[in-house]
Amino acid sequence: MPAASVPDRATSEGDVVAGRKDAHLDICLEEAVGSNGPATGLGGYGLEYDALPELDLERVDLSVTVLGKKLAAPLIVGAMTGGTERAREINHRLVRAAARAGIGMALGSQRAMIVDPGLTRTFEVRDAAPDLPLLFGNVGAVQLNYGVTAAQVARMAAAVGADAVNFHLNPLQEAIQPEGDTRFAGLGQKLAEAIPALGVPALVKEVGAGIGERAAAKLAALPLAGVEVAGVGGTSWALVESYRAPEGGPQGEVGRRLAGFGVPTAHAIAVCRRAFGERIVVASGGIRTGMDVAVALALGADVAALARPLLVAAAESEAAVERALAILLYELRVILFCTGAANVAALRQVRVIAPGAR
Ligand SMILES: Cc1cc2nc3c(=O)[nH]c(=O)nc-3n(C[C@H](O)[C@H](O)[C@H](O)COP(=O)(O)O)c2cc1C
Repeated sequence: MPAASVPDRATSEGDVVAGRKDAHLDICLEEAVGSNGPATGLGGYGLEYDALPELDLERVDLSVTVLGKKLAAPLIVGAMTGGTERAREINHRLVRAAARAGIGMALGSQRAMIVDPGLTRTFEVRDAAPDLPLLFGNVGAVQLNYGVTAAQVARMAAAVGADAVNFHLNPLQEAIQPEGDTRFAGLGQKLAEAIPALGVPALVKEVGAGIGERAAAKLAALPLAGVEVAGVGGTSWALVESYRAPEGGPQGEVGRRLAGFGVPTAHAIAVCRRAFGERIVVASGGIRTGMDVAVALALGADVAALARPLLVAAAESEAAVERALAILLYELRVILFCTGAANVAALRQVRVIAPGAR
C-alpha cells in the first residue's frame, strides 16, 4: 500500500477504506460468517431427474449471454475486493481463473480508488486476463448521499474497463459497521439521476441480506439493467461487521442477533424475477454447489454469483480457484444432462419440485 510520509487527506481516507477491506478479508477467511441458521431456501427444491435424457453429456451447452456478453457458463465471481496489494493479488488469481473458465467477474467496492486514485491498480484486472468476457465495477449506492457523483462513478468504471457497474445496497451492514454510512434517505432519487449518466449499464445488488418485494418494486422503477439478489443463507455482513464492532457498544451483539435478518436467496430470486421482467437477475447469497446454481436458474435467475467460497480458494492459489470452478461447472453440466436439458433455456422448462412435494 502506498504510504506517503505525510499523507494528504485523500490518501489517508483511501487507506482507511482499503484497511477496512483488508480486515474484511481476514474475517471472511478466519471467522464463522455464515448467516447463522437461516438457509438460502434453495436446498428445499428439487429438479426432476430424467433417466432417459436423449442427449449427449458433451453436447450440453452451458453458455449464456448477459448484457450482450457471451459467458461459457451462467456464473460470475461475486463482488469482493480491491484496495490493497493483497486484494490485487486475490483479484488477479480470481480473474485469471474466471477468464480461463469463460465466466464473468465482479470487483469489490471501488470507493477506495475514488478517494485515492493511486489505488486504481489494485482493481485493474483487464491486463491480467484480457479475454475476461464480462467485468462489473462496484460502489456503495449510499456513497451518492456522501458526495460521490455520477461522473466519479463513470470514471471509476472506465478506469478498470468495467462493462457494467454494481451499486451495492447494504443498510444492515452499514448499521452494524462501526463507521457505517447510514444516511439512506432520498437514495432512490439519487440512483435514478446517476444511472443514466454512467455510460455503462447499472445493476443494484445487496450484500447478503437480500432484495424482497418492497425493495424490488422500488428498484424495478429505476433505469437499471438488472439486480443481484445477494440473499440470506450465505455470508452474513451483519456478522462480518460484528467482529469489527467496538467492545461495549451495541453493534457487536446486534450484528450477531441480526445475522440471519433479510430475504432468503430462493425467495429473493422469485421476487426479483417477477419485478424485473426481462431484465437481468443474478442469483447470489449462499450459492455453493452446481445444484444451487441449477435451482436458482430454474427459479428464474439468468446467472449466479459466488463470493466467499472463491475467496477461500483464491487465498490458497489460482489453481484452487480453477479447481473450485471446474467442479461447479461439471456438476452443473451433469445436472443439465440428467434433467434432459440441452442448454440453460431448457433447464428453465424442467419441472421444479417444490419444498415438501417429494
Ligand atoms: C471478502 C468479501 C468482500 C466483499 N466485498 C463486497 C463489496 O465490496 N461490494 C459488494 O457489493 N459486495 C461485497 N461482498 C458481498 C458479496 O458480493 C456477496 O453479495 C455476499 O458475500 C454473499 O455471497 P456469498 O454467500 O457467496 O459470499 C463481499 C463478500 C466477501 C466474501
